[in-house]
Amino acid sequence: MARRKIGVIGGGFVGSTTAQRLAEKELGDVVLVDIVDGMPQGKALDLVQAGPVCGYDSVVEGANDYSSLEGAELVIITAGMPRKPGMDRSDLLRVNGEIQQKVVSGIMEFAPSAMLVIVSNPLDVMCYVAHQVSGLPKNKVVGMAGVLDTARYRAFLAMEVGCSVRDIQAMVLGGHGDSMIPLTSTASVSGIPVQQLISAERLEALVDRTRHGGAEIVNLLKTGSAYYAPSASAVAMAESILLDQKRIMPCCSLLEGQYGIEDTWVGVPVILGSDGVEKIIEVELSSAESEALQASAAAVHDGQTEVAQMINIT
Ligand code: NAI
Ligand code: 2OP
Repeated sequence: MARRKIGVIGGGFVGSTTAQRLAEKELGDVVLVDIVDGMPQGKALDLVQAGPVCGYDSVVEGANDYSSLEGAELVIITAGMPRKPGMDRSDLLRVNGEIQQKVVSGIMEFAPSAMLVIVSNPLDVMCYVAHQVSGLPKNKVVGMAGVLDTARYRAFLAMEVGCSVRDIQAMVLGGHGDSMIPLTSTASVSGIPVQQLISAERLEALVDRTRHGGAEIVNLLKTGSAYYAPSASAVAMAESILLDQKRIMPCCSLLEGQYGIEDTWVGVPVILGSDGVEKIIEVELSSAESEALQASAAAVHDGQTEVAQMINIT
């Protein structure tokens, strides 16, 4: 039986580490696509040559067009441009909106029924673009941000308690930005509410660090942003879909009335299986968390409206 085919668009830091993790887990053969001539081909060959050492048989192919995606079941989109000096938020929205539009059209030409996992920023608005452009049912488009933001939150909570990250249960909802909501009402350590182990003041500091987790790494790296945890998060989502694990993960999904939010792509807990977003789970939130989720969704909705006009996808 042929192995599954998985596409990764964008062969930069996140895309190439995503391809590496997919190959190492042997989730399928990987097609890495980027516009830079020779770069995805070179990285793909390097990954193939790591196979004998690491013990995997996944084939990794590099390409500058979309034809090799034919038959792909799932495509992870990491193509995008970082904000450059002089660019404001709107400029970035336009540039990445146009890239997303081109990429999704290219994928749909050769893999029209592929599931799309979006990673490109601004994440929530790019999910909206991918859904509009692809015409796919809403369950087949899903965004990666909550898994990453939650991983950061769990790592910070574990450092504070001095325990294993495995024993931290927590979730971050909302848009991928300063308005995200690291839940404190439901966070626990092996079933013990975090409030019993961490003071309110320290907890608030960890929530704040989580909200700025991406920026903290950007400031340290000076050029570029995080990629180890982002690629691990995207691959965890791909694994849940491809292996029908039905894991409950916070993912960017289209809300149509859930949490009282309409027509907005935002991070909420979902069941992720072979049908993509199989169910959106509505958890009970404190009133502060609920208000914060509404505000976060409103900001994303404004971005959706703005990008739709900019790149004409209404
Ligand atoms: P990068 O700059 O290393 O890679 C981006 C790649 O996209 C480049 O290789 C570029 O040539 C390629 N690209 C640009 N236009 C393209 C097109 N039309 N078709 C194919 N490829 C194209 O950036 P990095 O670090 O890999 O990040 C990728 C994206 O993921 C960025 O938008 C970043 O902000 C986002 N990101 C999102 C996270 C999340 O939680 N959702 C976490 C980390 C990064
Ligand atoms: C992050 O959170 C930049 O969105 C990216 O690391």
